[in-house]
Amino acid sequence: MIAVVTGAAGFVGSSLTGRLLDDGHTVIGIDCLTKAYDVELKTRNLDRFLGHPNFQLHYSDLAEHSPTGPVSDADVVFHLAGQASVTSSWGGGFSDYARNNVEATQRLLEACVGAGLERFVYASSSSIYGDALVMPTPESAMPRPISPYGVTKLAAEHLCDAYHRQRGLPVTSLRFFTVYGPGQRPDMAFHKLFRAAYGGDRFHVRGDGSATRDFTFVDDVVDALLLAAGAGWNGALNVGGGHRVTLLEVLRLVEELTGPLDVEFVPTLAGDARNTSADVSLAREVLGYQPSVGLPEGLARMASWARGLLVPQLSYP
Ligand SMILES: NC(=O)c1ccc[n+]([C@@H]2O[C@H](COP(=O)([O-])OP(=O)(O)OC[C@H]3O[C@@H](n4cnc5c(N)ncnc54)[C@H](O)[C@@H]3O)[C@@H](O)[C@H]2O)c1
Repeated sequence: MIAVVTGAAGFVGSSLTGRLLDDGHTVIGIDCLTKAYDVELKTRNLDRFLGHPNFQLHYSDLAEHSPTGPVSDADVVFHLAGQASVTSSWGGGFSDYARNNVEATQRLLEACVGAGLERFVYASSSSIYGDALVMPTPESAMPRPISPYGVTKLAAEHLCDAYHRQRGLPVTSLRFFTVYGPGQRPDMAFHKLFRAAYGGDRFHVRGDGSATRDFTFVDDVVDALLLAAGAGWNGALNVGGGHRVTLLEVLRLVEELTGPLDVEFVPTLAGDARNTSADVSLAREVLGYQPSVGLPEGLARMASWARGLLVPQLSYP
C-alpha cells in the first residue's frame, strides 16, 4: 500500500513507519518537527528512514498547509500528528493543542475528501474518557475528558465522525491507552523512569503509586493500526495492553531490570485520570486485535533501548 503517516517523526509515527517499510509498503511521512520536545529525538527517528527508496518526507505543518498532493497518492492515511501530553495542555499551552489536534485534523480530513482513500486511521486517546466509571472501559462509555488535551482529542474524533457521516470518509479512530516502548516521548513516565534509573537521578511518582494504568506496548499499537487499515470499521475502538497495573508494580518490575530506584512521591497533577483500563473486546471482534507483549517483556525491551540511547548530552524539556 501507499500510506501517508502524519507525525512520522514522533514516537508512534516512526514505529509505524519502520514497520510499514519493513513490510514493503511505501510511506509518505508528514511532520513539521514541533518543539513539544527535543527535536533532536525526532530527527534521529527520521534518520532511520531518509534514503530508504520507499520513503518520502514532507516537512509540512498540517495546521497551515493542506496535504492534497500526498493524500491523493495514498491508499491509507494514518493520522498520528498531534500535540500529546496531558499536563502541559492547561493555561497558555492550550493554543498548541487546539491548533495541532483540532485545526490540523480538520484541514487533513478536508484534504482527504474525494481522494479515494481506502481508510483514514486517527490516533485518538484513552484521555477522552477522563475518570471513567466502568473498568475495563468499553467504547460505549460516555466520554468525559478531564484535561484540555483530552477535550481536543475528543473534538478531533468528532470531526472524524462528522467527515465519515457527511462526507463519506472511511474513518477508524483508535483510542490508545498509554503507549510505551523504545522511542517513547521524553515527557512520558517510563522514559523519565529509565532516564532516572540509568542517570542515577531521582524519579518523581505522582500520587502514592496506587493509581493504575493500562500500558500498551508500541508494537501492539502498530499491529492495531495495520489491522484497522485493512478492516472496514467506521468508528472508535480501544487499543489497550490487556492488563492494568499500579505504578508501584511498575516500579518493582523496573527495579528488577535496573537495580534500586531513588523515588520521591509528589502530588498528582490536574488532568491525570486516576485509573485507566481498556475493554478491547470490540477491537478483538472487528480487527482481530490481541495485545501480545506483556509488561515484563515490554519493559525489558524498553530498558535495553534506554541503555543504548539515553545519552547524557541530549537536553530534555
Ligand atoms: N504515546 C501515547 O501514549 C499516546 C496515547 C494516546 C494517544 N496518542 C496520540 O498518538 C499520536 C502520536 O503520539 P506520540 O506519542 O507519537 O507523539 P509525538 O509527539 O512523539 O508525535 C507527534 C508528531 O506529530 C508532529 N506534529 C505535531 N503537530 C503537527 C502539525 N501541525 N503538522 C505536522 N506535524 C505535527 C510532531 O512534530 C511529532 O513528531 C498523537 O496524536 C497522540 O495524541 C499517544
